[in-house]
Amino acid sequence: MLSSQVPFFFPMAHFILFVFTASTVFHFHQRLAKIRPPWDFETLVLARTEHPTSQPPRGMWTINAIGRLGNQMGEYATLYALAKMNGRPAFIPAAMHSTLAPIFRISLPVLHDTTASRIPWRNYHLNDWMEERYRHIPGEYVRLTGYPCSWTFYHHLRDEILREFTLHDHVREDAQKFLRGLRVNGRQPSTFVGVHVRRGDYVNVMPQVWKGVVADRGYLEQALDWFRARYDSPIFVVSSNGMAWCRKNINASRGDVVFAGDGIENSPSKDFALLMQCNHTIMTIGTFGIWAAYLAGGETIYLANYTLPNSPFLKVFKPEAAFLPKWIGINADLSPLLKH
Ligand SMILES: *[C@@H]1O[C@H](CO)[C@@H](O)[C@H](O)[C@H]1NC(C)=O
Ligand SMILES: *[C@@H]1O[C@H](CO)[C@@H](O)[C@H](O)[C@H]1NC(C)=O
Ligand SMILES: *[C@@H]1O[C@H](CO)[C@@H](O)[C@H](O)[C@H]1NC(C)=O
Repeated sequence: MLSSQVPFFFPMAHFILFVFTASTVFHFHQRLAKIRPPWDFETLVLARTEHPTSQPPRGMWTINAIGRLGNQMGEYATLYALAKMNGRPAFIPAAMHSTLAPIFRISLPVLHDTTASRIPWRNYHLNDWMEERYRHIPGEYVRLTGYPCSWTFYHHLRDEILREFTLHDHVREDAQKFLRGLRVNGRQPSTFVGVHVRRGDYVNVMPQVWKGVVADRGYLEQALDWFRARYDSPIFVVSSNGMAWCRKNINASRGDVVFAGDGIENSPSKDFALLMQCNHTIMTIGTFGIWAAYLAGGETIYLANYTLPNSPFLKVFKPEAAFLPKWIGINADLSPLLKH
């Protein structure tokens, strides 16, 4: 480009201009080489090693963003905890940010897809429970994979996890406004029990794939009665992706049950915020309910032993790693599975 501008006839003034231009361009190139774009991961490491006094951790860890809200919360919390344990900086995929950031004040930085695609990740599969070897995962550029959603990864950091999953003010305020408007027999209740009834695809997937059941009306009746026996006029705030089934199967004649939330699976923030703002939780199955219970932090009733003993589900799921020891299980009725 420059040479094409250099005339055939080459007087001294032009020569000096040429040298000046060339040296400017040369220096500019040198500077550019120093200011590398932020997506160059090797620079990140090099730049950091130039300052041995601060010694920030080397590398970059991430995790797959698969499943819906509850799964991605589990993946986020697991990445947060394991990266910290291994002294590595954690970055979340853009898809995870899109799922979680509209609801929670999460703090982990986002790794954009164009950047992620340039990094030679080492995939590292996780089971859904903590193992000793996860304390020493080798590699600077690790992508954790799987569906981890177990308190055994992150419960020692409970306060930090609660801070990460703090609701945005407007999301919390909408839920509070709804709860404040509820009445039981004309009085404002002081005990709110969130009831999450997971149905949808699970109604078929549990028996067909996992030799298991979803919660039935008997379970929900026992769970509601457990709270009615212990609290003065509690209110049950029901959220479900099968609200028609809930209206038919949860006895609301005492006036202490409200069918709330919109059950829209693509925008779960409203339902989740309601459950999380309640004092206690009745969950059925699924990670959405597990997270609502964990964040609500009160007493929790869960559906226990909801698969046959030879279910393949028990190879990927350990109940003791999914439910906090203080939560209370009510055994599922497996008789519908034994009829065939
Ligand atoms: C619903 O609960 C009320 C009050 O406890 C009871 O009288 C009624 O029989 C129940 N209905 C059903 C269908 O179980
Ligand atoms: C129970 O939940 C309500 C609604 O979020 C809240 O206002 C109240 O302070 C909670 N009660 C206790 C004892 O935490
Ligand atoms: C579930 O089954 C196991 C094994 O039989 C048993 O130890 C456990 O107590 C059961 N859970 C509940 C909540 O009853």
